[in-house]
Amino acid sequence: MKGVILAGGLGTRLRPLTLVTNKHLLPVYDRPMIYYPIQCLLNAGIRDILVVTGGEHAGDFLKLLKNGKQLGIRHLEYAYQEGEGGIAEALKLAEEFADRDKLCVILGDNIIEKDIKKAAGDFFTQPSGAKVILKEVDDPQRFGVARMDGHDPPRIVEIIEKPADPPGNLAVTGIYFYDAGVFRICETLKPSGRGELEITDVNNAYLARGDLTSEILDGWWTDAGTFESLFRASTLVARGGANSGFGFEAASDGAPLFAGERP
Ligand code: G1P
Repeated sequence: MKGVILAGGLGTRLRPLTLVTNKHLLPVYDRPMIYYPIQCLLNAGIRDILVVTGGEHAGDFLKLLKNGKQLGIRHLEYAYQEGEGGIAEALKLAEEFADRDKLCVILGDNIIEKDIKKAAGDFFTQPSGAKVILKEVDDPQRFGVARMDGHDPPRIVEIIEKPADPPGNLAVTGIYFYDAGVFRICETLKPSGRGELEITDVNNAYLARGDLTSEILDGWWTDAGTFESLFRASTLVARGGANSGFGFEAASDGAPLFAGERP
């Protein structure tokens, strides 16, 4: 399985900070925001990573991450997104990198306390389809929200992007697992009201095929794309760390972290 970090966008909600740098290079406590999704992938045993970025500050990623070896990344690639087409538009740029392998896609401003090892291991053995990671939140209107059925365990019936009247408090986090079919789905998407190709439409397409699984994340999760959430992210990290502790030791020992990982 390979990893894709989506780190484009104009970061308009964080202006003026994002007038002079990319959102994902801003500090979250003691390190650049993008270190957290990198560490999240490494902790799950994913060491081949594509960073998709864009805008006028894209070159700064190369200055910071170089070839990724110092962070424990085995293979680091970059892709450049023209314009502001949305998350699913950015994902299209990962097709060659994926080379039909399964992908873990993570939004560059998503930070978690613990790890996604179990979800990654489960998806590795899932024959096809996609998996989303859910988390209870107090402000579901800001996110993609899952409507669940009455089964035990509950299953997703529908995902609604930023609902005015949320059907529950389970947000779809910005951590997704996809099989190689995701690129054909991306081709069928139409821009939403905000003029973007929505990742929620990708997930609903898998749902319509009956090929979407989900897990609920253990530990805290936050995005960091607004002043409030950026501040919360720094506070959470300062109080309790992130990605099960700092340092890239979990991934730099060279050992596969879940059974069956490709060498
Ligand atoms: C995006 C997705 C949304 C998801 C969120 C997680 O929202 O569209 O479904 O819940 O990321 O961070 P955006 O940050 O583009 O508003």
